[in-house]
Amino acid sequence: MNPLFDLGLPLLRLLPPETAHRASIAALRTGIAPSRPESDAPSLGISLWGRRFPNPIGLAAGFDKNAEVPDAMLRFGFGFVETGTVTPRPQPGNPKPRMFRLVEDHALVNRLGFNNEGLDVARARLAARRGRAGLVGANLGKNRDSAEAVADYVAGVRALAGFADYLVVNVSSPNTPGLRDLQRKASLLALISALKSARAEATPSDPPPLLLKIAPDLTQDERAEIAEAALESGIDGLVISNTTVARPAELRSRHAHESGGLSGKPLFAVSTVLVGEMRRLTRNRLPLIGVGGIASAADAYAKIRAGASLVQLYTALIYEGPGLVLRIKRDLAGFLARDGFASIGDAVGADVPLPS
Ligand SMILES: Cc1cc2nc3c(=O)[nH]c(=O)nc-3n(C[C@H](O)[C@H](O)[C@H](O)COP(=O)(O)O)c2cc1C
Repeated sequence: MNPLFDLGLPLLRLLPPETAHRASIAALRTGIAPSRPESDAPSLGISLWGRRFPNPIGLAAGFDKNAEVPDAMLRFGFGFVETGTVTPRPQPGNPKPRMFRLVEDHALVNRLGFNNEGLDVARARLAARRGRAGLVGANLGKNRDSAEAVADYVAGVRALAGFADYLVVNVSSPNTPGLRDLQRKASLLALISALKSARAEATPSDPPPLLLKIAPDLTQDERAEIAEAALESGIDGLVISNTTVARPAELRSRHAHESGGLSGKPLFAVSTVLVGEMRRLTRNRLPLIGVGGIASAADAYAKIRAGASLVQLYTALIYEGPGLVLRIKRDLAGFLARDGFASIGDAVGADVPLPS
């Protein structure tokens, strides 16, 4: 990895977080990413939903909301990139400032509120890269002022099913009022059934898997309901988890009490425990993507051993720079070899045995 990418970080950190983010996307659009990814250790590969992931480390939703730079991010070594959240119509999101660095806590708070350019723009960009190597997913949301949540997600599936390697239904952002109520069982069953019909119409052959992204702030009842709905509805997997509205007592940063979703290190343990719990509740019938606070290979490995077949990260990229991806992959391959696992698939759920 070119050390320049990590050297740029201290400069970016001088800018307000959203400005730094825009500057990063603008720089990546000029093509400054590495020219091609290094090939991955064979032990890091995993096949899911008929797709081959060269490694299990993904870029989480929210970094490339408008599908501007998925190929640049793949060249940093990610095994897959999730674009979005995209809503049917473009929308500006919440008033600024709406993104805060909690430096002492290795965390962020954001209340962006799905600022994005809308489905037409995302579709055009994803269509333009069709046929290129590299797995790119799309995360779908609803417009803030829309009264028809199901119709918004259906529009997302219709627009993007043919252009994304997987789709994520995001019912867990804390920054769109009422969104997380869609995580109740009856709502989920209705939503997923409508989305599966829309997907079947849009992509009769090779439909992309449809995943559900859930919040970490769920009661025990809600977790059980999601597991039941997931199994009954035939959803293809879960993304665990989105940001948290909780504020752990240990936070030290002056921005800790900004409203919005907290990501990064303080989210790690909670979201990892939730992976293990959803593995148990779904009786290991669904692939899980573990996300929340991953900043090292040890963190990624812990999520995998808790039950995640793939993992994603975002916040650590801001503190560590994109060189982090190669470091995680190198060390993760070492952990697998040390523990006698031939591949990622063998390590999935090693810490969460299921009753036979
Ligand atoms: C600035 C920011 C924006 C985000 N936007 C989205 C989004 O649009 N859709 C979504 O599903 N998750 C979004 N997320 C949540 C991340 O995808 C991820 O679930 C969460 O940040 C936990 O991972 P991390 O601790 O590695 O950042 C966002 C996170 C951050 C920090």
